[in-house]
Amino acid sequence: MSKPKKRRSQDWYGKRDKDGFIHRSWMKNQGLPDHVFDGRPVIGICNTWSELTPCNAGLRDLAQSVKSGVWEAGGVPVEFPVMSLGETQMKPTAMLFRNLLAMDVEESIRAYGIDGVVLLGGCDKTTPGQLMGAASVDLPTIVVSSGPMLNGKFKGNDIGSGTDVWKFSEEVRAGKMSMNDFIAAESGMSRSAGVCMTMGTASTMASLVEAMGLSLPMNAALPAVDARRKTLAHLTGQRIVDMVEEDLKLSKVLTKSSFENAIMANAAVGGSTNAVVHLLAIAGRSEIDLSLNDFELGNDIPLLVNCMPSGKYLMEDFCYAGGMPAVLQQLLPKLRSANTVLNHDISEYAIDAEIYNSDVIRTLDSPIKPAAGLRVLKGNLAPNGAIIKPSAATEELLQHEGKAFVFENIEALKATIDAPDLPVDKDTILVLKGCGPKGYPGMPEVGNMPIPRKLVEQGVRDMVRISDARMSGTAFGTVVLHVSPEAEAGGPLALVKTGDTIRLDTLAGQLELLVDDEELASRKADWQPSPARYDRGYAKLYSEHVLQADQGADLDFLVGKDTRPVTRESH
Ligand code: FES
Repeated sequence: MSKPKKRRSQDWYGKRDKDGFIHRSWMKNQGLPDHVFDGRPVIGICNTWSELTPCNAGLRDLAQSVKSGVWEAGGVPVEFPVMSLGETQMKPTAMLFRNLLAMDVEESIRAYGIDGVVLLGGCDKTTPGQLMGAASVDLPTIVVSSGPMLNGKFKGNDIGSGTDVWKFSEEVRAGKMSMNDFIAAESGMSRSAGVCMTMGTASTMASLVEAMGLSLPMNAALPAVDARRKTLAHLTGQRIVDMVEEDLKLSKVLTKSSFENAIMANAAVGGSTNAVVHLLAIAGRSEIDLSLNDFELGNDIPLLVNCMPSGKYLMEDFCYAGGMPAVLQQLLPKLRSANTVLNHDISEYAIDAEIYNSDVIRTLDSPIKPAAGLRVLKGNLAPNGAIIKPSAATEELLQHEGKAFVFENIEALKATIDAPDLPVDKDTILVLKGCGPKGYPGMPEVGNMPIPRKLVEQGVRDMVRISDARMSGTAFGTVVLHVSPEAEAGGPLALVKTGDTIRLDTLAGQLELLVDDEELASRKADWQPSPARYDRGYAKLYSEHVLQADQGADLDFLVGKDTRPVTRESH
């Protein structure tokens, strides 16, 4: 390789004094020889591997492939763990800890003598948390995702993680599925390493990583257990060494244009509503001016990917049909010019891509739905915005006026939703409060609240539901989410009472509480926030500093970046 330049890592390993001795000597206890400290790129492999995050459990193996690539290209790989967020395992909600992971990633990258970083993530919050942290340090950065599980199988049919859980659960509640079958479906659903194999939040974020040019092509769709994912990891290890040589920092890839491409791609893949808060948070770290209004860019983008929950196939099918390069190829006439980790424009990513199954990936002139973007809703019920995913909603409910039935918090919902005398019918609008960033805290995925049992038994499968919560990327329904400001912050959602009329007009982007201003002012005067739920630890810090959903729900003091060199010596 060419003569090494002075790199960041040389402030740790290049000194011929006591500090240099200490930094090198302790690294040598892992068998590293003298010559690796000669100024070659030191590559951090930031790993969210954990057995408590089953979706990321395969990342330990994948890290070995990254290391092989780094060594081959003349770099020095150093793997380090960061907090892992197991979506299905953490309480009260993994989202509470996304910002903590981001702090861990940021400080780990900054504190150590590395020149570039490979982010190994997958499960929902791990990808955005890692990108938020990395953006605040701004070294050359590239992503390798876990990859999706193989298609779920049950009684000869494909089943999708998440999406079919909600369906099975409703079938059990309606007495149409036995408990034995319900338990058997668990085993068939998760039958290999990897993330949810629907277009849930994990695969959405991996797809958007690809649309933003932050990974090598096919990173999103290659199944976790496909040998080609190891190859991709190996090639990524090679590429990050070159990125350090080229000084291709994250900020040279992550631009306003790349976020706009992500918004369009999210519409085309039928991606998760969670992408909104995550993209806003990553943009905040990157000091890029992105707001909810920018998401209107997705309004006219057609749904091209026929994957659950918006369609019928799964990520394995998406891979064999051509994956994200084929989607980006379709979107080329609409995409912004934007750089990628290859130091080429995004158009070069996709120019030669092909669709191999035109039912799984549609063309622009034969889409599944003509306009699939998440819709931003505004109105007196959500002055700072709310969102809805029309591609996963019931068409007839997208414009709806009905009487509200209010649950003041999640406990009230759980206690009463199945009551046989609950005063609701199919036209009622269910309203849930207290589940926003501050209110829960952590903004859990409970916005797709269950349909009341008495209506399930009548065959009702969807209703308009409104809350300040999020919804799993694998979920579906006519669900208005992320109402801002949230109820706990004194937003108008806090003032809604059972029996009020609410009007949802998705096409017009409106969400209105049809109660006169005088009455609302009187309710507001009587409103009191809940007493603080936490008096110590991270949850207290989070509750006091979390921003609202329309600002990405990051902590206020973490927005932006600090790229200054670390100046104080540790010894
Ligand atoms: Fe981890 Fe779905 S629960 S990706």
